Amino acid sequence: MAPTFITLFLSVLLAGSAVVNAESHTIRFDNQCGKGTPTLIIGGHVVSNGSDFTSSGPASSGIAYLQTGQCLFNGENCALTEFTLGNPTCAGCGSSVDISLIPPHALNVPTAFSFFNGCDGQGASCSTPDCSTAFFKPDDNQVQVACQTDNVDLLITFCGGGSSSTPASTSSHRKCQLRAKPLLQ
Ligand SMILES: *[C@@H]1O[C@H](CO)[C@@H](O)[C@H](O)[C@H]1NC(C)=O
Repeated sequence: MAPTFITLFLSVLLAGSAVVNAESHTIRFDNQCGKGTPTLIIGGHVVSNGSDFTSSGPASSGIAYLQTGQCLFNGENCALTEFTLGNPTCAGCGSSVDISLIPPHALNVPTAFSFFNGCDGQGASCSTPDCSTAFFKPDDNQVQVACQTDNVDLLITFCGGGSSSTPASTSSHRKCQLRAKPLLQ
């Protein structure tokens, strides 16, 4: 049967709304360490070695670390950034990101993250092995940083100088110790 005007019209409409509503999230790395390979793993697969990765749909249960030689596949021995990027389908259940130093994870390089294209600059930064901005025990939930903006993107920075990530200070569910910006010369 030949498509009728109305079925054609409907499929154009549906295709259009699919494009408009397509969810995606980009994860970007800024490796300022001069060494190492950014490693991004989603669903047990390495999906990036440092270049931008863009999901179609949510990017759930992803991990990232800078492979500096000693990291095992899931980032053991290294600082782990853990994230779920997803458009909120209920109040407060959008994206969430954190840094984990729960053993066997350990700080190999200063690690920071921040959102962009939504919740701009909100994030966390950990540059010492005892920073207060990372998980050390499974109930350190205050270190998680959430964002409820659709299609938000994530920047992960290694060895940032302090000005490349600007943690937003005032979300009440966080108790992050914010790194002071270096004095401009
Ligand atoms: C990442 O690097 C590894 C080792 O060189 C390679 O096997 C893999 O294909 C790369 N993955 C991506 C997504 O580039």
